[in-house]
Amino acid sequence: MAERKRSSAGGGRQKRSMRVASRAERTAPVAERRHDVPEVMRAAAIDRFGGPEVLTLHRLPVPVTTANEVLIAVDTAGVGSWDADMRAGWWPEGRPRFPLVLGSDGAGIVAAVGARVRRFKPGDRVYAYSFANPKGGFYAEFVAVAVEGVAPVPAGLDLEHAGAVPTIGLTALQGVDEALRVKEGEAVIVHGASGGVGHLALQFAKFRGARVLATASGDDGVAFVRRLGADDAVDGKKDEIAAAARAFASDGVDAVLALAGGPALTQCLDALRQGGRLAYPNGVEPKPRKRRGIEVTAYDGVADAVHWQRLGRAIEAAKPEIVIAESFPLEEAAAAHRRIEAGHVLGKVVLGIR
Ligand SMILES: NC(=O)c1ccc[n+]([C@@H]2O[C@H](COP(=O)([O-])OP(=O)(O)OC[C@H]3O[C@@H](n4cnc5c(N)ncnc54)[C@H](OP(=O)(O)O)[C@@H]3O)[C@@H](O)[C@H]2O)c1
Repeated sequence: MAERKRSSAGGGRQKRSMRVASRAERTAPVAERRHDVPEVMRAAAIDRFGGPEVLTLHRLPVPVTTANEVLIAVDTAGVGSWDADMRAGWWPEGRPRFPLVLGSDGAGIVAAVGARVRRFKPGDRVYAYSFANPKGGFYAEFVAVAVEGVAPVPAGLDLEHAGAVPTIGLTALQGVDEALRVKEGEAVIVHGASGGVGHLALQFAKFRGARVLATASGDDGVAFVRRLGADDAVDGKKDEIAAAARAFASDGVDAVLALAGGPALTQCLDALRQGGRLAYPNGVEPKPRKRRGIEVTAYDGVADAVHWQRLGRAIEAAKPEIVIAESFPLEEAAAAHRRIEAGHVLGKVVLGIR
């Protein structure tokens, strides 16, 4: 993992809390306090769609929060393949305004809260998710996020690992628990288990008591998923998944969570028993074809109060290893995108903002 100089926002916050608060601070309503929030911030943004080179360091106004939003001093931002897609020109609907700050998730310290926010106060450690946020994403020193996209950092996580988790953690857990309803003792294939979502899905499925056959990419990917607890593992780009699946569950596997598409996924489908389940998050391409006797569920990770609570509980109970493959400083956001686009990331790439 690339080393980066860190001055943790958590550490800074602790130092600040050592001084005695003034009378005005002690009596100010929580919703109006803003801690050390400057007018301008550093952010990695694009002025037009294009290759990684369009992602450059900007100085931009700190977003102003509305009543239902939380302003987060970002410590760590996640970098996902969808960020690179957005940089290159994919946008969910309409056209974004430039300069556009990318980044769908991250973690940091609450710097200020809107007047209607009661669940958080300045100084809280939070992780958050906001997709295509019109006020700008997490590749910045500050981000304003609607309160339902924000949650307290689960016990035991530092801000760097918390910043890696929101999108992949919500998607992995919802795949295992909701889309597939994985039960104890079931035989499950996690296809693409060496990536961001997959490496957490594998650990959540194990925690639910499933037997997991992981497909990964390359010898290092296979070793990686075995280390994370897979009962068996194959290189899905080279090995015969069908044969491995037959040896793993002679009557067919109960469920497949797919984080990669294509012919190898078809082999996973072939390995399902009649009545088995396949789930994949939207974005997996090419999409698997529907099959008679197989329940196929496409889903999107949801970030709301219920799902944050479930994720927090699952992380605190299962204590999954959250693997940061590489961390880049904010000013090297373009290099982080090149890394994502090169592929073969074991775990998750992040940006260290502070
Ligand atoms: N809709 C939603 O809410 C949502 C949320 C999160 C993610 N997603 C989607 O879910 C997918 C996974 O996301 P992610 O962040 O986990 O991506 P990722 O980190 O790229 O993971 C995909 C993994 O699959 C591996 N892989 C590819 N072909 C394989 C094969 N034949 N056999 C075994 N492994 C194979 C890749 O290895 P190599 O890189 O070495 O090829 C990579 O490790 C993406 O399509 C993403 O868009 C959707």
